This record gives sequence, C-alpha cells and structure tokens, in this order.
Amino acid sequence: MNERTNDFQDALLKWHYVSARDLPWHGETDVYKIWVSEIMLQQTRAETVKGYYARFLSAFPDVFALANAEESEVLKLWEGLGYYSRARNLHAAAKRVAYDRNGRFPDTLDGLKSLPGIGDYAAGAIASIAYGLREPALDGNQARVLSRVLGITDVIKTPQALYERALPFVSESDPGEYNQALMGLGAMVCTPRNPKCGSCPVKDYCMALENGMQNEIPKKPEKIMRRIEKRAVAIILDEDGRVFVQKRDQGMLMGLWEFPGFTDARNIQDTQACLEEMGFEVAPIREIGNAKHVFTHLEWHMTGYLFRCRKACEKGMFADAQMIMKIAMPTAVKAYRDAYLKGINI
Ligand code: ADE
Repeated sequence: MNERTNDFQDALLKWHYVSARDLPWHGETDVYKIWVSEIMLQQTRAETVKGYYARFLSAFPDVFALANAEESEVLKLWEGLGYYSRARNLHAAAKRVAYDRNGRFPDTLDGLKSLPGIGDYAAGAIASIAYGLREPALDGNQARVLSRVLGITDVIKTPQALYERALPFVSESDPGEYNQALMGLGAMVCTPRNPKCGSCPVKDYCMALENGMQNEIPKKPEKIMRRIEKRAVAIILDEDGRVFVQKRDQGMLMGLWEFPGFTDARNIQDTQACLEEMGFEVAPIREIGNAKHVFTHLEWHMTGYLFRCRKACEKGMFADAQMIMKIAMPTAVKAYRDAYLKGINI
C-alpha cells in the first residue's frame, strides 16, 4: 500500500465513522443477515431495502427458517423489490447451506461464489463484512467512485474489471467497514449526477476532480435499447367478483402470479380469442385503460380488458381481494391489481 491509498482510506473511514447513515445491517455480524442485506442491496437503494430487510428477517430469522419456507412466502416478502431471481436464488442457497452444510456458510470467496445468486460483488461484500477478508465489493457504486478517484476515462465494462486497481485501496484492518464506507460515499456524496465534491472527504485524492472531469467520469456506455412489448392484460371476473390469476412458470417473473397477458392481442376481440384458446369461455365487458412498466431491457405497454367468465381454464385460480393481497404479484401489473381492489375503473 502506498501513502496515497493509505491517506485515502484514513480520510474515508474517518468520514464514515462520523457521518455513516443509520442502516439496520450496519454493524451486523451474523453472516446470514449480512447475506440477505447484500442480496437485497444489489440493484436497490438502501432506503427501499430497510423495510424489506426487517420484514424478511422477522419471517425468516435464520437460514433454516428460510430453507424451510415455501417459495410463495419468500416471493411475497420480495414483492415490489424486483429482480425476483434474487429471491429464488436466496431460497435455493438457503436450502444448500441448511441441508448440505448444517447451516454453516462457506467462509471463502470461492465458497461463497459457489452458492446460487452470489456473484463477485456479493461474495466480496459478504467476505469482507462477515469474515474480514481483504476484498473489494465492486458494484456500480464502487466502480463509479473508484473510476473518479483514479481518473479512468474509458468505459468500464463491468465493475469487476477494476478488481486489480481496487484491491490496494481496501483497508487491511477493516475491509468490511471500508467497503461500506465507499458505498455510503457513492450513495451520499459521489452520486451519479452532480457529485458533491465540495464536501467530499476524499476530494484531495480524486483525479477526476483535479482534472475537472467529475461529470464526465464514469464514461457512459451506449444507451440500453429497450424492447417495447405491447401486452393485452385480461381481467376476468367470476360471478362472485373474484378475479382470475395464474402463476408464471418460466422466465423473468417465474413463480409470481399475474393476470393472463398476451403479446399478440391488439383489442378485446383478439384477447377473447386468446383466452378461448386457453380453454376459457368469456363475455367481453370493456377496455379498462393503459399501464406501462419499464424493466431493464424491456418495456411493457399494457392495455387492460375486462371480461365476465362463463367457463374457466384449468391452469390458474380465481382470487378474491384478500387472496390477491396475499399472493406475490409483480409491480408490472400493480395498476390492474389496484384497479381490481378498488372495484376497477382504471
Ligand atoms: N450497498 C450495498 N451494500 C451496502 C451496505 N452494506 N451498506 C450500505 N450500502 C450498501
């Protein structure tokens, strides 16, 4: 370690001890809880994670409770957080740790990475925070901060590409606190837009600031082109006012419940024909309005259609309002779920 990395670390940690955010996982020593927090914090802001983290741990206080849970319970507690494969992987990994390893988590980087859902970032974060291993935890935030500190003007393909350059910065005595300090700096000071360089504790070590390039670094990759998918969403009511839902058995929202949706239906008649192909007999009522949901690489532009059921298809169930609140549904269909709960009329 040279003098510059040493001074950087000192300044960062000093700032962290004084102004760290009050986050419920901070100071945690139980590897299970650290793991849950880091998986939730991937792709999601700390403020959003707080409530989910508390509810999840109160339902599943240890790895055995999680391993023994039904997938539907796990997904329900994840509802709204998005990237649901995180929850399915968490559940699968809990089963491995509980049943194959007697509840003992692997304590090496490679051991952690052998579990479903633990990649380079989560392995680095868990290894450093739970076990004090000297590893960076390179996510988009750490990569942004380090690319500014180091003045890297090229596009960074993946955060992990910075590994060799990130490692010398990591504190030997307290790698977990160092990583969390860097994450906090990325969240509060070294933000993607308009970084608060004036109040940055490590401004004296920042090449980007020295060169006035803090707004150009990190260099943005080509914009993601999102595919737009038009979808018809069928809200089918039975004579008791319950609504038809089915569980997705594949793809990105697997295991979540949704209203039947079709990419090849452009109006209420097309949608009716698609439903009939599934084995429904339905009477169309009316169109109930549009909703949009943006995923990372895909946008759903949805139109809802309301039907009365004469004969149901076998794959799925009718759910009343209470059941609709209990099952896990993706945020993508929230507009239609809320409409159903409020008596429709979107
Ligand atoms: N983002 C990812 N992991 C984090 C942690 N442990 N603390 C704060 N922010 C984080």
